[in-house]
Amino acid sequence: MRIRRNTYQKVCHQIASTIKKLVNDSEFSVLGLATGSTPIGIYEQLRKMDVDFKKTLTYNLDEYVGLDKSHPQSYKYFMNEHLFKHKEFHSNNFPDEKLCPYYDSMIDNSDGIDIQILGIGTNGHIAFNEPGTPRDSVTRIVDLTENTIKDNSRFFNSIDEVPTQARTMGIETIMKSKEIYLVAQGKHKKEILEKAMYGDITPEIPASFLQEHQNLKVYYSD
Ligand code: GLP
Repeated sequence: MRIRRNTYQKVCHQIASTIKKLVNDSEFSVLGLATGSTPIGIYEQLRKMDVDFKKTLTYNLDEYVGLDKSHPQSYKYFMNEHLFKHKEFHSNNFPDEKLCPYYDSMIDNSDGIDIQILGIGTNGHIAFNEPGTPRDSVTRIVDLTENTIKDNSRFFNSIDEVPTQARTMGIETIMKSKEIYLVAQGKHKKEILEKAMYGDITPEIPASFLQEHQNLKVYYSD
């Protein structure tokens, strides 16, 4: 497993260009999208690119429980601000209350995710699959760990406002993606990224399951 090191700008440009090529070259395409600070640069690049997403379906990784789409910290709001209000898509899906029970079969029925973008939490989570998540997990409701609530409190006025639950794709859901781009940005992510990529494959570091994916690219920038 090779960790590709480059500037954040270059990493984002490279991934956005790969997405553009997929979308332009395919009759129909399916993207798995992530939120958090890491993918913001990818969406910024995509907004500027000449690419038509009208035949592209998106599935976001996760969504908080209890935040309406009008809440600025909801992931629907985030995606709208960074991408969806700028580019028209075929449809944009989230594992919300309505779709959560059907999410995995919806993805299967769309013929799977072509490109999945992933960030990594400081505890090794991917999406909201916290330490202890089994390999065969699918989309479901989960409790967030104290670590994640604390990490994500930077986006809220106070830690008490951070939801304690979320709905998330499972490890199995993510592993079925045809191609995965895992991005870690910042020195605080270096250690966990190396552990996840070079250490034992264990539910204690959910991102470590990605080592078994046949088509994974991993990027790190300081
Ligand atoms: C959040 C999200 C993840 C994201 C991670 C890292 O909790 N659920 O999908 O990858 O934390 O976020 P950031 O990129 O802001 O560090």
